[in-house]
Amino acid sequence: MSERTNQLRAGFALTLIAAATLASALGGGCDDSAGPQQLLLATSSGSGGSDGGGAPNLGEEMFHALEADLVKECGACHKLGGLADTPFLGDPDSQNPAPYDVMTSWPDFVVKDWATSLLVSWPAAGSHSGPAPSETLGAALEAWLAEEAKAVEDVANAPSPTIAPKKPIMGFNSLYLDALGADFTGMAITFWAEELTDKSLALTEIQLYPTPKLGLKFEHPLFVVYPIGTIDGEPDPIDSFSNVAGEVEAGKPASVGPGTLVLSNWKKGAKLSLAFDVLEVVDPAGGGGGMGGGGGGDVGDGPCQALDAFTAEAAPALSPCVGCHGGGNGAATNAVDMSDLDNDLSSACGQILNRINLNNPPQSQLFVTTNPQGGASHPFKFGGNTNNFNNFVNAVTKWVQAESP
Ligand code: HEC
Ligand code: HEC
Repeated sequence: MSERTNQLRAGFALTLIAAATLASALGGGCDDSAGPQQLLLATSSGSGGSDGGGAPNLGEEMFHALEADLVKECGACHKLGGLADTPFLGDPDSQNPAPYDVMTSWPDFVVKDWATSLLVSWPAAGSHSGPAPSETLGAALEAWLAEEAKAVEDVANAPSPTIAPKKPIMGFNSLYLDALGADFTGMAITFWAEELTDKSLALTEIQLYPTPKLGLKFEHPLFVVYPIGTIDGEPDPIDSFSNVAGEVEAGKPASVGPGTLVLSNWKKGAKLSLAFDVLEVVDPAGGGGGMGGGGGGDVGDGPCQALDAFTAEAAPALSPCVGCHGGGNGAATNAVDMSDLDNDLSSACGQILNRINLNNPPQSQLFVTTNPQGGASHPFKFGGNTNNFNNFVNAVTKWVQAESP
């Protein structure tokens, strides 16, 4: 376990170095005054980003042409550590992560029908705390989204339950299953993605998250790679999880098979989808027998061993989260239910424990998603305040240490 984690961390550091090198190469060729035509030449030789055939990634060229305006108009709030807690611009200065990579992996930005993209619809809806894009930037963003949309497959009619192709974040990913039907709301599959080389992608800690009330039954998950510019998926050539099936109990996330997989058909910048032969919601209350049971057989002593430390240290530190996770925001509460923090600490503790990595606490989802310097797409990151984040981590970690065997 810890061996794997160490490998992951070492590999991750390498990836960061590689990304920085690539970014500075790209940055060097990126002259603000260059037109799209020049940029196309500059990056298609420099990035190695397109597939081996050398087809230019037109979407990326179009993005680089509008990047400077975008950063100027939106950067103060939307870069890493910015005021908005939604750092979809990554770090435009160091290009690590590069705005293009973050924008194309941000939830609901690149979609089949560009007009419904969150990037367009959010500022247009009128409740945006920031300005709308200028006319020039708005038009460029729409043209870019339309170009990216050409490579988005419509999986509405897929023969089996399928999570639509999406560019993975290099780091922590949380893909929600909501599009599969109302019962799936708040359920997710989470994993860490890391490029081992330009041609292989490692996925680790692949886990299915049910909700506190509903479980999941699944068979044969299959990851499919969609190289840049195509809608033709290339399935995992060795079909790693062909024999994997299982049932995930309500409230208890579970590893998918061994939880680890290397895709040897990876292409840089590609999207990833996940199809299941079977993926069904299991309702323990409807199964006959579970009368009123708060969640199965072992409610007796609860999932947490160190409830005192949880009560003294972690629970107070979670107060900034309760506004959304305590019932105020349905998606948040379905994902991590903190509504019991003021009445049933054992149940609340179980929900939080689900998001802790006892083998490697700093890598816990609870911290990774809320780190103002991290690229995860979570709408709250302490308003960009790293001190407050650190205090939160320190308090929760006191409990995590007490919880660890
Ligand atoms: C003054 C700060 C500020 C600026 C500048 C700003 N925004 Fe925002 N933006 C926010 C805040 C705060 C949020 C969080 C929700 C809200 O209040 O709208 C947000 C949310 C968003 C979201 C929703 C993201 C998500 O994942 O939920 C989008 C899209 C967005 N902004 C686009 C833009 C664009 C495009 C620009 C530049 C034209 C821009 N913003 C400039 C403050 C800003
Ligand atoms: C502004 C509302 C809001 C606040 C405040 C908030 N969250 Fe969330 N959180 C969400 C939403 C919404 C989701 C579901 C993710 C989604 O739909 O993209 C979520 C999901 C999560 C997840 C699951 C992993 C993931 O990324 O989906 C974790 C862990 C989490 N939140 C931790 C926290 C912690 C810890 C705090 C307090 C320090 C907090 N959240 C505060 C809205 C919020």
